[in-house]
Amino acid sequence: MEILYHGNAARGLAWQEAVTRALPEVRFTCWPDAANPAEIRHIVAWTLPDEVLAALPNLEILFSVGAGIDQLDTARLPAHLRIVRMIEPGIIGTMADYVAMGALALHRDLPFHVAEQRAGRSSWRDVAPAQQCRVGVMGLGELGRASLAKLAPLGFRLSGWSRSQYAIEGVDCFAGETGLAPFLAGCDILVCLLPLTAETRHILNRDTFAMLPRGARLVNAARGGHLVQDDLLAALDSGQLTSAMLDVTDPEPLPAGHPFYSHPAILMTPHVAGITRTDSAVVSLIDNLGRLLRGEPLIGEVDRSRGY
Ligand code: NAP
Ligand code: GLV
Repeated sequence: MEILYHGNAARGLAWQEAVTRALPEVRFTCWPDAANPAEIRHIVAWTLPDEVLAALPNLEILFSVGAGIDQLDTARLPAHLRIVRMIEPGIIGTMADYVAMGALALHRDLPFHVAEQRAGRSSWRDVAPAQQCRVGVMGLGELGRASLAKLAPLGFRLSGWSRSQYAIEGVDCFAGETGLAPFLAGCDILVCLLPLTAETRHILNRDTFAMLPRGARLVNAARGGHLVQDDLLAALDSGQLTSAMLDVTDPEPLPAGHPFYSHPAILMTPHVAGITRTDSAVVSLIDNLGRLLRGEPLIGEVDRSRGY
């Protein structure tokens, strides 16, 4: 079996060595080195440029380097192509850390204090214990659940919203369209960890913000396409939202001069919330390649009709 890698060269070499050591029967090649691209049936990539896709007419399975798959622009991929997302402890652990940092930073008004510092001022704002703050996570998948587990010992009151109804100890779980309004009504801090699909694009919009308690805060660590940027600016202007922490934007990076860069109530990071770790992700990849060789179900296979 052969698997082609497309992406960062250093990671490709590290994964080639690890995969070859663990599964000598797998030939791991790095784009553009495949001897016969027309024979390639499996690829691992973060994105798949058109010229790479065109060179691989017999592709059957695409392993994403990331947890998300929207960056692959899946609508242009053949309908029969199986897509497998990356589930690995590096992404999960760093994302949970980021969400804890975001919740604490917004709860303790860090954007305000940073803006005051930059303006050469020092002002006091009231401080409430975490126990008085309700954090709600949209998306109760791998990242949402790990983030809630990380938040729990910090004392926040927790809730979550997803498509399916779950029962998670210590978390008020809501589901589906009917669960959205009651979920939002109880979020002092809203965290988005949804996949970007046709249903979730622009879900962080004025209507959603209006259902939050006045003065709520937002952490978007999922995808920039979830957010309607002008609606965030309007909600911050009106006081409906107090502040936001954004790891993702559309596009990335935002153009120079974009109002988010200088907004006193916005903290931004450059898509670093949940990071694929070269060493731990290859263990997940090797596990899945072993499963493929044995004809077993793959971990993280995407339901293409659902989009995640
Ligand atoms: P996941 O395990 O597939 O979980 C997705 C969750 O979202 C599930 O609970 C799912 O509900 C829920 N969901 C999907 N569509 C929904 C809808 N229309 N309404 C309500 N709930 C919906 O995904 P994950 O591994 O946690 O990753 C989530 C996303 O995080 C990725 O897709 C990616 O975009 C983003 N991400 C960002 C970074 C970063 O660095 N910023 C890093 C990694 C990932 P069900 O459980 O009911 O199916
Ligand atoms: C990063 O954004 C990922 O999807 O893993």
